[in-house]
Amino acid sequence: MSIAILFDHKDPQPWKIALEKSLGLKVHIDPTDDSVKDQVEFLICWKPKPNSIETYKNVKLIQSVGAGIDHIFVENTIRAGTIVSRITDENLLADMYEFVLTGILAHLKNMNLYGRAQQDRNWSPKPYRRIRETKVSFLGLGYLGKGVALKLERLGFLVKGWSNSLKEIEGVETFAGEEGLSEMLASTDVLVNLLPLTEETFGILNRNLFSKLKKNCYLINVGRGPHLVESDLLFAFDQGMLSGALLDVFVQEPLPMDHVFWTDPRIAITPHVASISDTGSVVEQIVNNYKALKAELPISNTVDLEKGY
Ligand code: NDP
Ligand code: OXD
Repeated sequence: MSIAILFDHKDPQPWKIALEKSLGLKVHIDPTDDSVKDQVEFLICWKPKPNSIETYKNVKLIQSVGAGIDHIFVENTIRAGTIVSRITDENLLADMYEFVLTGILAHLKNMNLYGRAQQDRNWSPKPYRRIRETKVSFLGLGYLGKGVALKLERLGFLVKGWSNSLKEIEGVETFAGEEGLSEMLASTDVLVNLLPLTEETFGILNRNLFSKLKKNCYLINVGRGPHLVESDLLFAFDQGMLSGALLDVFVQEPLPMDHVFWTDPRIAITPHVASISDTGSVVEQIVNNYKALKAELPISNTVDLEKGY
């Protein structure tokens, strides 16, 4: 049973080296030879090229090296019966927490404004906000959303969260359904998107949702670019629904040079770096899944392809 890595915009070499060391077998990177491809039953993917997965006729398990799996389906069709697995990892959660916290504090303490003011030698004190007065709401209470929500609650933030099924999380006010979403949005100072990208969540960050927010809310999008209707973000700024946004993910990545977001002072941009899978801590899950597949044992962190996450 062979393994192949199909990566775009990510260096496969550290993964190949770590996997070969743990498994003691050759791991192929983007093989071209059909006889090699036909042996591959285990594919490890990050943004695989269009129509590449279809060329592996015997693939049984597709392993995403990230928490999200949407990148696998963008321009690939998966044969029915194929198992898809994703990553849940303590480092991925810790890194996401640190990123979201940095974004919130930079907003509360006006760091983005002062960064720009310094360029103009402009001494201009602004009112700041405190953690204990700040209501942070999460779209998505899964491995990352719930994990970050709990850590922020422990720091003293007032934390809420919305998910498909209603959750019970100590210290976190939880919501589900359309009504629940509206109720949560109405008392939100900072909205953090940690939803997976699915047919239901595509374009969810739109002017209808923004119109339900407490005035001058701050948006942190660490989910996926297509969650956000980009033109509606500018509309929401102009209408005072949102005061600013930290965007880590974009419809098109890398963000095109001429994109209007680059020069908008209300937007802070990071290049999809909120939380990146760490080869060292993640490879064990992949190795275990390979061994489980071989032994016909249950695979961990499988995705419900009906739900799309
Ligand atoms: P999970 O699958 O563990 O959690 C998803 C959550 O979203 C669940 O709480 C689920 O509800 C909820 N959800 C899904 N669909 C809906 C819907 N239609 N309405 C309401 N709630 C919904 O995912 P993770 O927490 O592990 O990861 C979330 C996403 O974060 C990833 O898919 C990825 O896109 C993004 N990410 C971004 C990174 C970055 O660097 N920017 C890094 C890592 C991840 P329920 O629990 O009821 O099923
Ligand atoms: C992920 C990501 O899904 O890095 O893990 O975006």
